[in-house]
Amino acid sequence: MAFPTVRHRRLRSSAAMRNLVRETTLTVHDLIQPLFVTHDTNVKEEIPSMPGVYHFSLDRMDEEVHQIAELGIQGILLFGVPDHKDEVGSSAYDEQGIVQQATRRIKALYPELLVIADTCLCQFTNTGHCGVIHHDPTTGRADVTNDESLALLTRTAVSQARAGADIIAPSNMMDGFVAAIREGLDEAGLSHIPIMSYSVKYSSAFYGPFRDAAHSAPQFGDRKTYQMDPANSMEALREAESDVIEGADFLMVKPALAYMDVIRRLKDNFDLPIVAYNVSAEYSMVKAAAANGWIDERAIVLETLTGFKRAGADIILTYFAKDAASWLRQN
Ligand code: PBG
Repeated sequence: MAFPTVRHRRLRSSAAMRNLVRETTLTVHDLIQPLFVTHDTNVKEEIPSMPGVYHFSLDRMDEEVHQIAELGIQGILLFGVPDHKDEVGSSAYDEQGIVQQATRRIKALYPELLVIADTCLCQFTNTGHCGVIHHDPTTGRADVTNDESLALLTRTAVSQARAGADIIAPSNMMDGFVAAIREGLDEAGLSHIPIMSYSVKYSSAFYGPFRDAAHSAPQFGDRKTYQMDPANSMEALREAESDVIEGADFLMVKPALAYMDVIRRLKDNFDLPIVAYNVSAEYSMVKAAAANGWIDERAIVLETLTGFKRAGADIILTYFAKDAASWLRQN
């Protein structure tokens, strides 16, 4: 059958009709808000390239956490901005580290709110890399060592979970990181803590504003020997498959906007919850255009977030979580 018998506009005729046939729904339960925490007191400092996103000291963090919880958002993704960096990123696994302190404080204030700890070393190493650097004396090349870094990442994950983190989210892209962290958590009696793996993390220019925010830009070279080539998607399936076999509980695709096809591919191939990370530059671009009056920010954001869900994401990490939660409430 075809036109004129078939008329697609019949199901678009009114708001009620459209509500009835809508295939994808965005709700506050889909959203997770990232949060940057730092040392000192009375710090609430806006990140210049990310208007509306701040560094909070622990005392000022409370008001932000309160708002997030009040809006009905289920989880916070925690990033630490430490005051000490060294070769091995030791403040990442320090019991008094900033992420550990913030985690304990959030869980004491809001036991129901999920704390998701980003597990990586790049904010904590003086090289800005996600692991330990090995200098090859014959070639003169410097690169991140895989297996040595795994031990430090595992140590970090265990200390975060001991501080009360509900979910461990390793973002370092070392081979075998899910297996190593799973084993470390299990040995520490933390077998109930799930791993949200940054399974498919591309080497992307879309992390630029985050690196300003987290002071985590690599001091030499780039992350191309561990993060994925943006041109590849079969490789995404291999990465995700390894993580599934190693015991991941969630699979993440990052960034999101330029990788909608990869989100869909993972959704069609795996039966774990799929997480899309709507990263820093995706946020900053919208903010810049909105500040110029070029776009309708609210409409653009809700359309984009709905698009991630339509592509196959079950959960969305986004700096717009608070805004989106309050807009959804008004709708
Ligand atoms: C740490 C990490 C990064 C992001 C999340 N975790 C930066 C990177 O890999 O360079 C990026 C988040 C964003 O851009 O919003 N490895």
